[in-house]
Amino acid sequence: MKKVCITSFMLVIFSQAYAEPFKEGDPKIGKAMIEKNCISCHASQYGGDGSEIYTREYRKVKTSAGLIAQIRNCNTNLGLKWFEDEELHVASYLNKTYYKFEK
Ligand code: HEC
Repeated sequence: MKKVCITSFMLVIFSQAYAEPFKEGDPKIGKAMIEKNCISCHASQYGGDGSEIYTREYRKVKTSAGLIAQIRNCNTNLGLKWFEDEELHVASYLNKTYYKFEK
């Protein structure tokens, strides 16, 4: 009985990790990066805490590939010089919190 429980528990963990397209990123780091560099502009254009831009009905980003591309664009336009692994932190945070793409 115990063995069965542990096995199904591991399966749940594994399938969750597997369903995360930016699993190399650390969402905690991404959150801090976004709060520092990105939110104030989104909030000034869309009001509130700036998160509406990711949840609005006609949002632009529709796939995980689109999300990383958008983050890269902003990174370049703003001259932030984030490295690829840093972009993944941000993608991981935005995906976990708002977009919830599974692959
Ligand atoms: C100077 C203002 C400004 C800054 C700074 C900014 N953004 Fe944006 N961002 C925008 C605007 C305006 C849009 C909406 C563009 C549109 O609708 O065509 C947008 C859209 C987005 C979207 C797409 C939302 C959707 O529709 O799904 C993402 C993701 C995003 N920004 C991420 C970032 C990240 C990450 C940063 C920080 C590196 C950042 N932005 C910094 C103005 C900004």
